[in-house]
Amino acid sequence: MSAAENVDTAGLKRGIVIKDDWPGYSLDLFTYPEHYHEDIENVYIPHGIIKNRIERLAHYVMEDFEEDQMVVLCVLKGGYKFCVDLVEFIKTLGRNSNRYLETRVEFIRLKSYLNDQSTEDLHIVGSSDLSFLREKSVLIVEAIVDTGKTMKALLKHVETFQPKMVKVAGLLVKRVPNMAESLTDYIGFEIPNRFVVGYALDYNEYFRDLNHICVISKTGKLKYKI
Ligand code: HPA
Ligand code: MG
Repeated sequence: MSAAENVDTAGLKRGIVIKDDWPGYSLDLFTYPEHYHEDIENVYIPHGIIKNRIERLAHYVMEDFEEDQMVVLCVLKGGYKFCVDLVEFIKTLGRNSNRYLETRVEFIRLKSYLNDQSTEDLHIVGSSDLSFLREKSVLIVEAIVDTGKTMKALLKHVETFQPKMVKVAGLLVKRVPNMAESLTDYIGFEIPNRFVVGYALDYNEYFRDLNHICVISKTGKLKYKI
């Protein structure tokens, strides 16, 4: 079978699948802030791989967004690094081709986690008036999608402002029962149901300054528990 026959182009957007038994890389192989030494188990997804996958997602976005402009709705705080890197790649692609996709970035803040547990209610903190989305092509940029409860609620909220089109980019999608894969149009990585930190993902506000995505250790969970 030729490579072309083997490739499902829709499937490429479904994300790199990280298997349940993936142990991650030993910490010694990479650099990271020394004070986190005991707080993380391993380097689960190295920063360089995250960046290159996002560059690939930027290509998919360019192909799908046919207008000249888009509104990028960044879900804070976890989505901020993903958003910055994705938008930078989209801008670079535009400067190096004959089509420039203008990006207007807006922010929304949601909060639903305490320690490593999801709480029931979704809070939209800050601006909840998204009337600027009317008739716009919108890309929601979220760091992590698991059960999809949050994303479903957000999509419903966004739709009330009558955008022209809405797509969702999720850097990570967790393999959980009833996973929300179908809500997410562009997936960076599909990961097992483990609590990960780094690349702006936090555990009670810690670890956002770690560039790699890592698995938190027992020591880390205890040290930063509230
Ligand atoms: N890490 C950090 N924040 C999260 C996660 C996670 O694994 N899942 C949902 N929010
Ligand atoms: Mg968080």
